[in-house]
Amino acid sequence: MILNDIKEIIKNLSLEEKAKLLVGADFWHTYPFLGKKELCLTDGPHGVRMQNNGGKEAGLKDSIPATCFPTASCLACSFDEKLLFNVGKAIASECIDQEVDMLLGPGVNIKRSPLCGRNFEYYSEDPYLAGSLASGFIQGVQSENVLACIKHFACNNQEYARMVNDSIIDERALFEIYLKPFEIAIALANPKAIMCSYNKVNGTLASENPVLLKEILRGQFKFEGTVISDWGAVSNRVNALKAGLDLEMPGSLSYLDIIEAVQNKSLSEEILNQAVESVLHLYQARPSFQDKKNLSFHQLAKEAALESIVLLKNEGQVLPLHKEEKIGIIGNPNIRIQGAGSSKVNPKHVDSFLDCLRKEKIQFEYFDTITDEVKQMDKVIFFVGLSSSKEIEGKDRKDLKLDEEDIELVCELSKLHSKVIVVLTTGSVVELPFIDAVSGLVLTYLAGEASASALFDILYNKTNPSGHLAETWIERLEDSPVYDFGKSVYQTYYRESIFVGYRYYDKVGIKPLFPFGYGLSYTQFELSDFQIKEDVLSARIKNTGLYKGKEVVQLYVRDLNEQLVRPIRELKAFQKIELAPNEEAEIIFKIQNSFFEYYDVSKKRFMMSGGTYVLELGTSSRNILLSKEYKVDQPMKVQPITVYHNLKSVKEITKQDFEKLCGKAIEPLPKKYPFTLNSPMIDVKTKWIGKVFVYFGLKALKKRSKTKEEFEMNQYTFLTGPIRMIGMGLQKTNYQLEGIVDILNGKILRGMIRFLKKDKRMKKVKQ
Ligand code: BGC
Repeated sequence: MILNDIKEIIKNLSLEEKAKLLVGADFWHTYPFLGKKELCLTDGPHGVRMQNNGGKEAGLKDSIPATCFPTASCLACSFDEKLLFNVGKAIASECIDQEVDMLLGPGVNIKRSPLCGRNFEYYSEDPYLAGSLASGFIQGVQSENVLACIKHFACNNQEYARMVNDSIIDERALFEIYLKPFEIAIALANPKAIMCSYNKVNGTLASENPVLLKEILRGQFKFEGTVISDWGAVSNRVNALKAGLDLEMPGSLSYLDIIEAVQNKSLSEEILNQAVESVLHLYQARPSFQDKKNLSFHQLAKEAALESIVLLKNEGQVLPLHKEEKIGIIGNPNIRIQGAGSSKVNPKHVDSFLDCLRKEKIQFEYFDTITDEVKQMDKVIFFVGLSSSKEIEGKDRKDLKLDEEDIELVCELSKLHSKVIVVLTTGSVVELPFIDAVSGLVLTYLAGEASASALFDILYNKTNPSGHLAETWIERLEDSPVYDFGKSVYQTYYRESIFVGYRYYDKVGIKPLFPFGYGLSYTQFELSDFQIKEDVLSARIKNTGLYKGKEVVQLYVRDLNEQLVRPIRELKAFQKIELAPNEEAEIIFKIQNSFFEYYDVSKKRFMMSGGTYVLELGTSSRNILLSKEYKVDQPMKVQPITVYHNLKSVKEITKQDFEKLCGKAIEPLPKKYPFTLNSPMIDVKTKWIGKVFVYFGLKALKKRSKTKEEFEMNQYTFLTGPIRMIGMGLQKTNYQLEGIVDILNGKILRGMIRFLKKDKRMKKVKQ
């Protein structure tokens, strides 16, 4: 291997060679190095999206067919790290087949609000669950030597204005909630790379944030891999390098800035060398490619869907269906299998629900409209879901509503028929105003290319459903603590602090429609015999129903100390277990210190708080079946009483309360004028010249986007993105882009010359 002694190699590299190693060569590749092929980095996370044409082009072009697995929001409902391992491993095998070195995933951002357009790509509202599942996935990917890249670090919890927005967050919530999945995955699975997010965190872009990238990531989390930028997340390459960002993606001319900075001594060679070393580790750890095997993992994609689809309602045992029953079908049975954006896979083979019915000779009738004939059906399945334009990278939803027309149809149908089963396909939470009117509800989420056959198996009990919700399903948007979601381009206050998802609903006493952790089965389970012996907790579980099935037993921990602000309960462990009818098993959890820890801001680390806790076993966060007190012999944390102690609603929290929690005043909004490279188009548009610029920018984007979907995504990102974003893929240096800024600031001639003239630094470097 050429890279045995990386430090020695670095000594012999020229400044130009080193600088180029720290910037992509094109959209998906680094530069070749010492006779070794360039590294190929591509999305991720629920299948390989390797663009055709050798993968050099920008954007979301056609990609090589690959197995399309369920998206993260679906997979998370499996509560099964082993399954995530297998999925990660399979995707990695396809990466090898397609000569991909790094898979850009998994995405572990916390679902702060159900409105985030990318929630379908993320696992959970709970950091422990997200971190554990991500660890399984990463271990699977890396078991094939493919490099995994966990993303987006950090606090990228909305799509709106994602390149300029500042996530303002208190330190405790940052560590306990938003960084926790990364911390867990780094400790357990050692991902070879991490992708920094687009947004700012507490005033500084994540790509230039030394607190995040150096102090926390390298210092506290002991991350040893390579830090990569999200595509276009870097504003100032030299500042990013100093802050700890190793590799900028995609390709750009910013290596010229690095060369210049080293030459004028504003950047030390030591920092440069550290980053080069980090990137070279990727060349060293990359997989080796064999002959193409044209692999396909359809069966595993189906297994993953089967483990993850959630049965939410089953009144009067309307499910499972029986083969002799005559079934009415309404809505579109070709259900959506994935979301849109950078994670979109070109599936190898998509199953069809109607084909499944035909194959099993099931009598069914398709209804375009609801007529009286529907009454002749034994049961009716109504397919409902969000349209693909609602779940897309770069854009959030405005509400949690399904199409009004669909809602009316379900209601109308349930007046005619008493056995209506809704099959719901969505990547994230929606409101279900018809829930009381229907007998059955099966949530597929976005279950990948085998969605339809997996759904068939679940409906007909070839497989007993066992998915449990990895996020709370609230009754209405107003219940969410994030009431001002997506309202500001510039700043987002994470006022609810640690009270995210069920932590909030439990605290303020909101009854969710379906709680976190919830999921039904066709069989029943009984939990008994809860015991704690030293640091081991055990209980017995029995399948008391008629069918073989799986249950997800969840362990929550509850602190009785009222002095310390804490969620009512927090998930600390889980186990999925399969039992035949009448079969029994013992479940064991090891009690760990981390169960009792909170992040102590004054000490800047996690600490145990002593006192009495309750360890709770249940099958959802609102279905606790067994519990026992447990004493922790440590000093008990006492906090001065704040508004968070007896929180009734996040709306009670004033800006002053929040600033107090953050320990400092919130920075004023950045000045809008004169424009800089980081000014958002929304501000640019306020000047006439800016309007013209945005008009032509959108026209160019339309031309460049191959599909309507791609244009839609690009358009949203563009309209709330910064001026510098237009440099992505343009091969212009920041110096030249400043020309645009000049033009927009009214210095038109100077700006045009600057933009059009070749940057003189380019002449000195081999292109
Ligand atoms: C997304 C990343 C993705 C990258 C490359 C970005 O827009 O935020 O998740 O990996 O594009 O496609």
